[in-house]
Amino acid sequence: MDVLSRPLIDRTLPLLAEGYAWLPNRMRDASGSVVRTRIMGRPALALRGPEAVRFFYDERNVHRHRAIPEPVLGTLFGHEAVHTLDGAAHRARKELFLPLLEPTAVAGLAEHVSDAWDEAVPEWGRRASVVLFDEAATVLTRGVHRWAGVPLDDAEAGAAARDMTAMVDGFATAGPRHLRARRARGRQEERLARLVRDVRTGAVTAPAGSVLERVCGHHDLSGEPLSEKTAAVELLNVLRPTTALAWFVAFAAHALHRWPENRAPLAKGDVAFQTAFAHEVRRFYPFVPFLGGLAARDLFWRGAWVPEGGLVVLDVYGQNHDETLWGDPYAFRPRRFLERAVGRDELIPQGGGDPASGHRCPGEGLTVGVLETLAAQLARMEYTVPDQNLTISLHRVPTLPHSGVVLAGVGRAAV
Ligand code: HEM
Repeated sequence: MDVLSRPLIDRTLPLLAEGYAWLPNRMRDASGSVVRTRIMGRPALALRGPEAVRFFYDERNVHRHRAIPEPVLGTLFGHEAVHTLDGAAHRARKELFLPLLEPTAVAGLAEHVSDAWDEAVPEWGRRASVVLFDEAATVLTRGVHRWAGVPLDDAEAGAAARDMTAMVDGFATAGPRHLRARRARGRQEERLARLVRDVRTGAVTAPAGSVLERVCGHHDLSGEPLSEKTAAVELLNVLRPTTALAWFVAFAAHALHRWPENRAPLAKGDVAFQTAFAHEVRRFYPFVPFLGGLAARDLFWRGAWVPEGGLVVLDVYGQNHDETLWGDPYAFRPRRFLERAVGRDELIPQGGGDPASGHRCPGEGLTVGVLETLAAQLARMEYTVPDQNLTISLHRVPTLPHSGVVLAGVGRAAV
């Protein structure tokens, strides 16, 4: 079997094990913004930069269909998810997510999450210490369920949050973390498929205009409603990534600890600064390492080529730390976003291109809105940061401050 027709299954895992520095290191060795390499024996082209983003997101160049390895589908995205579609099928499914781009969606989700945070803080204060990552995940799970119209007992929120974060934590590794992720996905898909069935039979009423109502009533290109399983997968594609904002909340707390001068402008409600801070957290801290697709034809980019069927990889972490774009990429400096307008395809922690027509994350506005809100709430909260290991390993994907950010003596708002 020739290397291009071999299945991609399992090939991404060892690569991801090399961590966030893998592509940036190879780019540095090649001293450019493109690298022709082999990924597990398969020809690959790795690129970065705003023009490369436009090249990557042009469907004439790169396809997603069959590009995502099964271990990633079986944990992170779900089989048959919107991420796996191209062309007309993708556009039809993407319609489901377009309302997420509306400012009213951002305001609605931010309000629900903010309320859930306020409800949780007194309880955090009764404990000697809390792990912020875990608590933020529970708050986000509660908030997004209420906003999406998906029923969830308050008592079940912690377990559901653990499942949501497990799916993200285990996608890029073999072994126990991966198995935990698969089991978590199985449990959550089952719960949500049952809910979809109940909504369709009338046993449960979905709130008017909610995400739940939209997913249950959505028709694909074929004109058929989504199967219960696919509907559950797409519901999870709203619930899971919103809970994953817990990574950014932990990173925000890390930034406030390391660079406390950011606390005052956040706490006093400087909205432009809150937005800049949210962007800098998403740019600076490592989360998504890279994105991949398959060459739709023989491709040439800046003198390098890859044959049809080869891998094309967009170096997300590398682009967000590219000196030619950011000047001082390894400085945490939110004000860089106040000093100049940053182009659509420069900052790509959640993908590039147009979210309405391409694969760019439709939850980016929600992410920024919720992060602005929670960063301000965190900045206003009283707490101390006891001695702990806050190291962020670049070898682990996804990574996190090692301790999950332990806070002690949590108290009322300090405003
Ligand atoms: C922790 C914050 C988040 C990060 C880092 C993130 C990152 C990403 C990335 C990298 C992609 C893939 C882009 C591509 O394939 O080109 C993506 C796609 C997607 N994201 Fe997010 N995301 C986040 C939050 C959200 C939220 C809050 C939602 C919804 C409420 C969401 C829903 C989606 C969906 C549905 C897709 C698939 C889009 C498509 O294939 O057309 N994400 N996200």
